[in-house]
Amino acid sequence: MKRYKVAVLKGDGIGPEIVEQALRVLKRVGELYGVEFETKEGYIGGAAIDRFGDPLPEETLKLCKEADAVLLGAVGGPEWDHLPTDKRPEKGLLRIRKELDLYANLRPAKVWEPLISSSPLKEEVVRGTDMLVVRELTSGIYYGEPRGIFTDEEGKRYAINTMKYHEDEIRRVVRKAFEIARKRKKKLTSVDKANVLEVSALWRQIVEEEAKNFPDVELEHLYVDNCAMQLVRRPSTFDVIVTGNIFGDIISDEAGVVVGSLGMLPSASVGDRHALYEPVHGSAPDIAGKGIANPIATILSVAMMLKYSFNLDEAHDAIERAVERTLNEGYRTPDIASEGTKVVGTKEMTDLILERLSP
Ligand code: IPM
Ligand code: MG
Repeated sequence: MKRYKVAVLKGDGIGPEIVEQALRVLKRVGELYGVEFETKEGYIGGAAIDRFGDPLPEETLKLCKEADAVLLGAVGGPEWDHLPTDKRPEKGLLRIRKELDLYANLRPAKVWEPLISSSPLKEEVVRGTDMLVVRELTSGIYYGEPRGIFTDEEGKRYAINTMKYHEDEIRRVVRKAFEIARKRKKKLTSVDKANVLEVSALWRQIVEEEAKNFPDVELEHLYVDNCAMQLVRRPSTFDVIVTGNIFGDIISDEAGVVVGSLGMLPSASVGDRHALYEPVHGSAPDIAGKGIANPIATILSVAMMLKYSFNLDEAHDAIERAVERTLNEGYRTPDIASEGTKVVGTKEMTDLILERLSP
């Protein structure tokens, strides 16, 4: 029997309750497909600050480095909002991305037909949308030096952040995006601001160089402002989008809202050695502990883990089918409920998905 180690970081807010449910799905997949998943828990975010005074303690990092994949809930909450940037729960997230070299962040945004009315766009515009944003995650303006808030000779404050990309950093994420596009609808949109930024001019050159190795993939370049428009105008024409860290942060939120519910969006952050899977939504402290959080984004993150870390594409598809059936039968958590649907809680939603999960 195949055995894999999964590090589990439940985090804050609704993190623990949704991860707990998603682990039930992982366990069932193990039984159905004859794989053993050994799970071990670690602390991250606010929970880790409270316990160790550090949003990413050394032992959590060690656990993640030894694991075959990491499943994360969510981090952050009002209790830790007063802390300086460097000590906040989010810093744990930024550090784990860097430490595990998770340079490619994959954020699929597809419209679920039973939820199509929850998109703010017209149904005929959004129907059929199924895209994947590949965001560079470990470099660019998020990490560039110098950075900081300084004071000039007159005692006035100024601030600096640096957008910097090395060609190797661009190439590896672009290559990953091309490879993924090749397995999907063979279309790649590269997003930049090459009309203004040198970093983007280099980005575009590297994309063109790599395109030679992927002649079967159709390539388009869009400036980020134009991309923001096209995403609401013609979302269904996108397949894979590749972009740098900060543009990807913004564009992936936009792609997420276009298809409807934040509670449905999974993500994967992958490098050459490690991978981490987490829902896109945050820790939702206002509904934590009430048993009403939507577990689907985390369950779909487990599905992504099965596909990208363990090559269990069939298990991934089986989970998506089970989710689709559950939605088709009218079951909803409160965040995605609409008139005439049956509202259920976190655990019941998972029960329903598990009942419908078959190879
Ligand atoms: C995300 C979030 C993070 C980011 C924050 C919480 C640091 O917005 O994962 O998209 O900007 O990367
Ligand atoms: Mg973001």
